[in-house]
Amino acid sequence: ATADVGVTGLAVMGANLARNLARHDHTVAVHNRTYARTEKLMSEYGDEGEFVPSESVADFVASLKKPRVAIIMVKAGAGTDAVIEELAAEMEPGDIIVDAGNAHFPDTIRREKALREKDLHFVGTGVSGGEEGALNGPSIMPGGTAESYERLGPILEDISAKVDGVPCCTHVGTDGAGHFVKMVHNGIEYADMQLIAEAYDLLRKGLGASAAEIAEIFSNWNTGDLESYLIEITAEVLAHVDERTGTAFVDVVLDQAEQKGTGRWTVQNGLDLGVPITGIAEATFARSLSGSVPQREAAHGTLPAHTAEWSVQDRESFVEDVRKALYASKVVAYSQGFDQIAAASAEHGWDIDRGAMARIWRGGCIIRARFLDRITEAYERTPGLPLLLADPYFTDAVGNGLESWRRVVAGAAQNGVPTPAFSSSLAYYDAVRAERLPAALVQAQRDYFGAHTYHRVDAEGTFHTLWSQDRSEEKQD
Ligand code: 6PG
Repeated sequence: ATADVGVTGLAVMGANLARNLARHDHTVAVHNRTYARTEKLMSEYGDEGEFVPSESVADFVASLKKPRVAIIMVKAGAGTDAVIEELAAEMEPGDIIVDAGNAHFPDTIRREKALREKDLHFVGTGVSGGEEGALNGPSIMPGGTAESYERLGPILEDISAKVDGVPCCTHVGTDGAGHFVKMVHNGIEYADMQLIAEAYDLLRKGLGASAAEIAEIFSNWNTGDLESYLIEITAEVLAHVDERTGTAFVDVVLDQAEQKGTGRWTVQNGLDLGVPITGIAEATFARSLSGSVPQREAAHGTLPAHTAEWSVQDRESFVEDVRKALYASKVVAYSQGFDQIAAASAEHGWDIDRGAMARIWRGGCIIRARFLDRITEAYERTPGLPLLLADPYFTDAVGNGLESWRRVVAGAAQNGVPTPAFSSSLAYYDAVRAERLPAALVQAQRDYFGAHTYHRVDAEGTFHTLWSQDRSEEKQD
């Protein structure tokens, strides 16, 4: 056996990961269900490093040095179970199977448990950065045991993206922690994309600006606090002209956003944990709404708008308002996502270091951004920080943009421009900072119709009012 590490599943992501490993001087065993793909990799890129191709799973496993490390990169789902089973049958105690696909974390927990019984390590690993990242340095989020990370960590850190020389890879936590954090990363990705799309829409409708003009604005924003991969590619997309029609490319793309499921999982998990991740939820539902064709057809041209023509007087300050509103909404979305990580970490005993998560997202991944440094700093200042927004840096940053944020959301509402993520983020901000919420009334209603009881602000204990009798109050035991 000569290979340091193996990759099975050689579609673009797997092939690129294998090439990345080989380019970093690791001898890489490669395998794919259909051998033609393995041959293609060998003929096109075989000279990039040391590869050991195998036709069968048995040969693939046999070519790995012990303790073996085999990385699976196949489409998440039942296919993953089949590959795990084949590998496990050939492996020995102490060997490590890594699932680098976008698996749902409960599946990872289940698989880790099953393989542990065979004394095999199973490491569910988030990998972000798309095809480019896989080849040139992704952000890597491995779960699994600390013991497996000792063998695996140096290899993964080696091929991950680096920011200021620091690898964008760290041991996230045990069993499903890595895939969980990747899931939340994707949820935040949805929120970030939706917020950017709303900012674009506001600029387009508020200023009557062209896509090319807005591309300029985004390029400009990319030099400040908003600097990020998503803002950068947005500027490029908006500047792109469609070859066929000669018009802005964004105008010829059908306005229905699809999804493969990680955003939905994030929202479902937010509901399970009772964590209000409204930014991610609105972003996910905005995609659903865009694809609700019969509903949109029934509404379009039928539902009245009662809006005035939007006339922005001072273009420069409007652009600045939208920029500040975008930044503030983005902070809310991240703050919510980090709350979700904290809640899941407590529930599963993962002990996830949120500052470290922000650090490994600084490079390689889709949400890489300048402001992640600020998040890491916030959690370094206060490791148990209950609310990212309450960190002095973010309190200031959001506070400075608050008037702009309110103007933008109010303007959008008055002019009929849908801004679900901007608006819900502002609503979250106002709710979370409120001294008292109308939840008191909801609780009272529950007591009225269902005797669900309530607590009082001025006395200990649980109470119920006899609503259908004399409305006297009873203390419950
Ligand atoms: C990444 C991306 C990657 C993929 C998403 C797209 O981090 O590299 O998040 O995982 O592009 O799965 O998700 P949707 O198809 O759901 O938009």
